[in-house]
Amino acid sequence: MDFFMLLTYLFSLFHNNQTAGPSHSSPDVNSKIFNVFNYGAIGNGYADDTKAFMDAWEDTCNYIGSKSTMEIPQGRAFLLQPIGFHGPCKSKKIVFSISGNLTAPYAPYQWKCNEDYCHQWIEFAHINGLYIDGPGTIDGQGPKWWSLNCKKYEQACHRRPRGMVISHSSNVHISNIVVKDSPNFQMSLEDSKWIFVKQLTITADGDSPNTDGIHIQRCRNVFVHNSNIHTGDDCISIGDGSKYVNISGISCGPGHGISIGSLGRNGSKETVENVIVRDCIFRKTDNGVRIKTWQGGRGLVRNILFERIKLHGVTRPIIIDQFYCPHSQCNNHTDAVEIKNIMYKHIHGTAVKKPFVELLCSKSVPCRDIYMNDIDILDQDEGKGKKYHKRSSHPPAECINVRGESNGAIKPKLACLDSERH
Ligand SMILES: *[C@@H]1O[C@H](CO)[C@@H](O)[C@H](O)[C@H]1NC(C)=O
Ligand SMILES: *[C@@H]1O[C@H](CO)[C@@H](O)[C@H](O)[C@H]1NC(C)=O
Ligand SMILES: *[C@@H]1O[C@H](CO)[C@@H](O)[C@H](O)[C@H]1NC(C)=O
Ligand SMILES: *[C@@H]1O[C@H](CO)[C@@H](O)[C@H](O)[C@H]1NC(C)=O
Repeated sequence: MDFFMLLTYLFSLFHNNQTAGPSHSSPDVNSKIFNVFNYGAIGNGYADDTKAFMDAWEDTCNYIGSKSTMEIPQGRAFLLQPIGFHGPCKSKKIVFSISGNLTAPYAPYQWKCNEDYCHQWIEFAHINGLYIDGPGTIDGQGPKWWSLNCKKYEQACHRRPRGMVISHSSNVHISNIVVKDSPNFQMSLEDSKWIFVKQLTITADGDSPNTDGIHIQRCRNVFVHNSNIHTGDDCISIGDGSKYVNISGISCGPGHGISIGSLGRNGSKETVENVIVRDCIFRKTDNGVRIKTWQGGRGLVRNILFERIKLHGVTRPIIIDQFYCPHSQCNNHTDAVEIKNIMYKHIHGTAVKKPFVELLCSKSVPCRDIYMNDIDILDQDEGKGKKYHKRSSHPPAECINVRGESNGAIKPKLACLDSERH
């Protein structure tokens, strides 16, 4: 495999497809603004504004014109119960302008959920041409959900809602909003294509359960740029059916890093391909860049590039784990999700404990075409003049059943990668 070809190939795919993407919008000849205050919204943070928002949405979505804007004024907080903004809409371009704050009910028992099950708080679905813009805040009021005693309230823990969900949509642009404290995933992008996310701040407590910053599932052509994510789980997680995902300029931490997977649970066939993660910084995260799959699964992870990654005190900077099994005991299987064409380039910084690089692949389905170029990961206590007293029994790098190549300086050394092309 020529890795330069892989890179060129990745680029060409993104660019060829882009011509089928968003078209430039025409001047606003017939556009209209729908302000939630004209629909009875109170905006004092306590009165339920759900109905006002639904009514404003009806008109925004059904306006026949080139652009319609739903306006959420600044300086106010609007309490919303779980709510769905659904298309298809008649307007060519829908702007959802969040200048004020949207806030969820304060405590779990105050949430009004259909069928007694809250899947999510705010959902946008079946919309083509959606622009969600800030500078407002979306506050999912997660702390009361996180602190539930799950032994006592198992059902409630099980249905912690996701904060903001985009589904079955295309040509979606999300920018300049603050998403905070969702009970579950903060933002979930599902079954959609051509999604452009930038300049977001996503924050939740570093110990909050399952609060992935952005989860991507069954989406193609997703761009996530220049955002700060501090959360309790993965900053970005890329799940089954995701293709052509371009992530750059993410500052992650606290959190669990940027992950592909987990894939292949319960023998399922799951695939992720053509992902670029570039120019990201990880600060005190549990992982850096990670690929995780369950034993017994099927499917494929391929054509992934991790490039120009900076690490500050990361616990496990580079991981491929084909034996993912976080809670229960897992049986050994011969089936596995195949992992191939993975490139790591220019990854620098400090790690907390050995091993810094773990590539753990199965015997029956080894990882192939794993490529590393210019890796430099140091122990964070080394070279600082501190007394070095950590005696980890682990070597700095571990790899099992991996085939690939390295080029340039690689620290820690990886015995499993040939370095032929010096
Ligand atoms: C990924 O996004 C960055 C930032 O917008 C851009 O410079 C780069 O060309 C994109 N890469 C691909 C393959 O589209
Ligand atoms: C909106 O949210 C921000 C950030 O959480 C907060 O600082 C501000 O006070 C809130 N404004 C209102 C009107 O609730
Ligand atoms: C996996 O399969 C087992 C047994 O068939 C089932 O009990 C369990 O709920 C499944 N888990 C998931 C996440 O689908
Ligand atoms: C699975 O395989 C590993 C390594 O070959 C072995 O150490 C472990 O005991 C096996 N586990 C089970 C449940 O068979």
